[in-house]
Amino acid sequence: QEAKLWGGRFEKPVTEAVTKFSESVSYDKRLYSQDLKGSRAHCKMLAAQGLMTDSDRDTILKGLDEIEARIERGDFTWRADREDVHMNVEAALIELVGEPAKKLHTARSRNDQVITDVRLWCRDAIDGLLERIQTLQVALVRLAIANQDLVVPGYTHMQRAQPILVPHLLLAYVEQLDRDAGRLRDCRSRLNFSSLGSCALAGTGLPIDRHMTAKELGFSGPLRNSVDGVMDRDFLLELLSANAIIGVHLSRLAEEWVLYASEEFGFITPSDAVSTGSSIMPQKKNPDPMELVRGKSARIIGSLTTVLVLCKGLPSAYNRDLQEDKEPLFDSVETVQGILEVTAEFADNVTFNADRLAKSLPAGHLDATTLADYLVKKGMPFRTSHDVVGRAVAVAVKEKIELQDLTLEQFRALDPIFEEDVYGYLGVTNSVSKFISYGSTGAERVAEQLEYWKERLSQ
Ligand code: ARG
Repeated sequence: QEAKLWGGRFEKPVTEAVTKFSESVSYDKRLYSQDLKGSRAHCKMLAAQGLMTDSDRDTILKGLDEIEARIERGDFTWRADREDVHMNVEAALIELVGEPAKKLHTARSRNDQVITDVRLWCRDAIDGLLERIQTLQVALVRLAIANQDLVVPGYTHMQRAQPILVPHLLLAYVEQLDRDAGRLRDCRSRLNFSSLGSCALAGTGLPIDRHMTAKELGFSGPLRNSVDGVMDRDFLLELLSANAIIGVHLSRLAEEWVLYASEEFGFITPSDAVSTGSSIMPQKKNPDPMELVRGKSARIIGSLTTVLVLCKGLPSAYNRDLQEDKEPLFDSVETVQGILEVTAEFADNVTFNADRLAKSLPAGHLDATTLADYLVKKGMPFRTSHDVVGRAVAVAVKEKIELQDLTLEQFRALDPIFEEDVYGYLGVTNSVSKFISYGSTGAERVAEQLEYWKERLSQ
């Protein structure tokens, strides 16, 4: 075992078991490009502040470039006994360029280094997620346009409620995704401050320039407090929360589409390209990708829970526990990338079954509320109209017919207020055409929503 960079006071080497147990390089090596960026910025600042010579700076910068090239061509040995990405890069740099490299860690600790890397990584991760959200929104809007006039039964309590236009339903998810994107953007702007220069926790007595490194790394500025700078993980919790909410949103969509794809509903048919078969039942065609979108929300929520519990009992400043934040972070981001991508692919590969929907719509008296509104328009108080229509529904249920099949006499027997024009309110097509309120499922309102989203998403 080589001597540790921190080994001065130690008399014995670390045991095998502890080395294996405490290393993080196996997974934090993916922060290498952020780590190199941070080191470059720090190095330039040290030179600008007279803490190293320009010639040492240039040697270090060249060395860092070489290390990056080696990592990228798979020609870099990651060593568990060097613990993490930071020590691997620094030790390799010292091997490569010698003495000048020993100045790089001036006024820096892994405590501020690691969280600077993670902030940079999260910034890019969020940009990638935002792009994928937009792609999914576009896919949903396309699907909405392709099915602009189709009606589906809307459910509450999983019982038939009122008719809604397919685009209205799909745009509900587009709205949710919009807020998901908003949460990510908020998180991005709040996390975009620099920890670098917080050092171990107290800052430093050396004349560093934290504003310079913050600027160099594209941060809005340095964090005001060095203890906060090394202990803050609330930006991670925000990102993981935003991801968990995305997971929940897409899980709900997935559940709906899995139901819709069943024989019992039959509202959609996923194409073969997004379906899988059974190893035993030859007839099966399963909507597995959507089941997995639903299933993967579990681990996305789990990642948030992990980091919440990880942080809740920690005293201030850096504690090694915090190393455990990385795997849930990486997993959450990768999984959310995946569910966004696959849901968009699924949306591109799904057909709404107009015939099946048309056959299904008459059941369940979806027009009953529209009928109650008809009576309100005739001057009846809503509570009374609710009761009158309830009794009309009872007649229809008993006779196993639809509301539109009741004769005018039958309606008038319930209340003389009914007139011939009642039939213009009955049946799903009539019913859905009566919606006018802002944000409702009325054709014009939905067309407005579609226009809004076409415009928004074309920017
Ligand atoms: N690998 C560590 C982490 O991910 C880096 C910081 C370690 N700091 C320390 N003083 N041991 O949190």
